[in-house]
Amino acid sequence: MKIIPPASRGSSAISYAGLLEKIEILRSTLRWASTLARPEIEKLLRQANTLRDEVMQLSHKERFVQAAATEVEPVDLAPGARRRALLDRSFVFEGAFGDNPQLLEALEIAEKAAPTDLPVLIDGESGTGKELMAKVIHANGSRSDKPYISVNCGAIPDNLLESELFGHRKGAFTGAVSDRKGKFESAHTGTIFLDEIGELPLPGQVKLLRVLESHEIQRVGSDEPIAVDARIVAATNRNLRRLSEEGTFREDLFYRLSVIHLTLPPLRERRDEIPLLFAFFGDEAAEALKRRPIKMTPRLRDFLLRYRYPGNIRELRNMIYRLSCLAGDTADLEHLPPDIRPTSAVSPAAPAPAAGAAAAAEATSLSDAKRVASDEAEKLFLERGLEQVGGTVAELARRCDMNRSHLQTLLKKHGIHSKDFRKGNSSRGEGGTEGAT
Ligand SMILES: Nc1ncnc2c1ncn2[C@@H]1O[C@H](COP(=O)(O)OP(=O)(O)OP(=O)(O)O)[C@@H](O)[C@H]1O
Ligand SMILES: [Mg+2]
Repeated sequence: MKIIPPASRGSSAISYAGLLEKIEILRSTLRWASTLARPEIEKLLRQANTLRDEVMQLSHKERFVQAAATEVEPVDLAPGARRRALLDRSFVFEGAFGDNPQLLEALEIAEKAAPTDLPVLIDGESGTGKELMAKVIHANGSRSDKPYISVNCGAIPDNLLESELFGHRKGAFTGAVSDRKGKFESAHTGTIFLDEIGELPLPGQVKLLRVLESHEIQRVGSDEPIAVDARIVAATNRNLRRLSEEGTFREDLFYRLSVIHLTLPPLRERRDEIPLLFAFFGDEAAEALKRRPIKMTPRLRDFLLRYRYPGNIRELRNMIYRLSCLAGDTADLEHLPPDIRPTSAVSPAAPAPAAGAAAAAEATSLSDAKRVASDEAEKLFLERGLEQVGGTVAELARRCDMNRSHLQTLLKKHGIHSKDFRKGNSSRGEGGTEGAT
């Protein structure tokens, strides 16, 4: 049987990247299938045969040259070597990165994926740099001089989604006063960034899947298929695998989008990057505000190095802009936003850490000293935590990965009342200047 794969029709030859994508989809299907019925096995075998035929159509030379190009280089384990190697390979990155292995791994995957047309799914908490990474993938690929179109799937009302993505013909619906191009057509030959893909409603997911499979769109109100060649990069702060298990995200679309799957670690898991980001944003803020880069007191620096950053890099960036705007030459704790300022700096009722240390020093035995110090640290931790979450115990339990009733017990033990930390229930000053977004 001679199979003519869609990719070999017309002028576009079978590409190595296209084949890799198909192999990955096949592998994903096999990897995640809990049981496979005979008809499914036969279907997968047919797909595998098609793939083999396509591989055979690549000339020997092409296979040899491309395989040689992807050969893995020996890894240099010297400190800083991975970072330097990325920079030496002229990796374009409009931000700062250090030696954090988790981040480096994400960047190295991005670097390898960038020159291909494989779909990339980026996940990670809010503010971890997903959009920045999408731009990096575009900038390091062969489409860098072609359009980069960003779509926020969570921000489009359901009834406008199809028209927004695929365009419409004049008169297709009330308000369609003229023909209009959709985002996919605008991204033709370039990259389309589907942000917040986890928010895409199910009907939209079906339509997107169809486009990914056929590489064609139809404007609303038109039967005419239009070929589109857009490289897909999608991002989400949700767990798409879990959503697909729960049935709110199509599993087949998840596999389609996640041929290359990148996870950006939260900032609290790459704390070693924080000093570097201080310097980066300090310079950036200084330039934006036309001032000298801000200095920090040791206690502020210490606080910022240990803070949890629920808003990740965006929060750190905003913080540095805020400090640069509010402080003179040197910023201190008082310049922090009131809702995160450490308890010792804002609550007169809270004992200073030194008091705890003094009590520990007065203890008569080492084990007593340890217990007193540990109790004091626990109390401070809880107070600071409640301060940060505005007194919501459930939220603090979530952030600290603690059982809620255990947390309640600890609060009781220390005589801490969560309501004292709710906004408007303290003398803490409000109304600081908002930082940059
Ligand atoms: N490594 C980095 N170096 C410098 N700036 C960074 C870095 N990572 C992220 N940023 C900056 O942090 C901010 C947040 O990043 P971005 O918008 O990409 O996050 P996101 O993951 O898309 O967030 P959300 O889920 O809320 O949309 C941006 O201003 C971005 O430029
Ligand atoms: Mg984003």
